[in-house]
Amino acid sequence: MTTTPRTLAIAATGLRKAYGDKTVLDGIDIHVPVGTVFSLLGPNGAGKTTAVNILSTLISADAGEARVAGHHLTREAQAVRGAIGVTGQFSAVDGLITGEENMLLMADLQHLSRREGRRITAELLERFDLVEAAKKPASTYSGGMKRRLDIAMTLVGNPRIIFLDEPTTGLDPRSRHTMWQIIRELVAGGTTVFLTTQYLDEADQLADRIAVLNGGKLVAEGSAEELKRLIPGGHVRLRFADPVLYERAATALREATRDDEALTLQIPSDGSQRELRAVLDWLDAAGIEADELSVHTPDLDDVFFALTASPVPAQPAN
Ligand SMILES: Nc1ncnc2c1ncn2[C@@H]1O[C@H](COP(=O)(O)OP(=O)(O)OP(=O)(O)O)[C@@H](O)[C@H]1O
Ligand SMILES: [Mg+2]
Repeated sequence: MTTTPRTLAIAATGLRKAYGDKTVLDGIDIHVPVGTVFSLLGPNGAGKTTAVNILSTLISADAGEARVAGHHLTREAQAVRGAIGVTGQFSAVDGLITGEENMLLMADLQHLSRREGRRITAELLERFDLVEAAKKPASTYSGGMKRRLDIAMTLVGNPRIIFLDEPTTGLDPRSRHTMWQIIRELVAGGTTVFLTTQYLDEADQLADRIAVLNGGKLVAEGSAEELKRLIPGGHVRLRFADPVLYERAATALREATRDDEALTLQIPSDGSQRELRAVLDWLDAAGIEADELSVHTPDLDDVFFALTASPVPAQPAN
């Protein structure tokens, strides 16, 4: 792949950022071809928003180089800002004014003429199914409507690259699907999308390339299919209602990956009858009854767990 600005919407190398002695980004490279969706995955606090903030010129990196829309991130920050739109993790919608007023305010900030501002506002409100709500205070909007307004506001300046920081967190399934449709339409129109998400299925659905951020590094990168191939097999998942039983099982089953919140254990398995029977026999022998047992073939969740979760620490021998 060439790295000319014409083919890459975002080209970043060696991005570093630390807060005090906490290194958030430990030298990451990101390359996003024009007209594609790049998804940055990672657990809470991994540094996704930090990466978005750096690439959208909101904060500066401690080290590294980046070109966004062909412009140097720091030397040509103004040009970068002119080419991008950012929908932040936390809504930029002003609840005290109407949806339409929020849009017109954006148009004003983008230095559009009143006439042009009105035209694009009407067009976007229509496109995002907000015409009926347009004259109501945004504080009365549902989460999904607010999110749609957020994105509509981002599109006022007709950006070629948009950053969407967890655009569907907190939305119900229908609103999430609407959002996915919106993102697909943007991409079909040639927009490049940099998307962060906690939802693996979202990245699976939308992203051409996915990178997993953990411990300040990109620990894996590829298409959804490539990432799934990193995980050799499926697993058996045991869920417990009783924390005491869960602890006992976790202590004994050392190769299991634990999820202390959900009280689930994952045991690598090819899903064969023989392996399933082995797990059942072991549970019987230990006198432990799981409340739920399910068999999983690899999906992006597995990749995420494998790359970002720590395995059960070895028990000291006694
Ligand atoms: N201004 C700041 N000052 C100090 N620490 C910060 C600052 N901004 C972020 N951090 C820290 O940097 C780390 C990464 O934060 P960031 O918001 O980028 O994570 P994230 O991946 O977006 O998480 P989430 O999924 O919760 O949104 C966190 O440990 C956070 O506490
Ligand atoms: Mg974040």
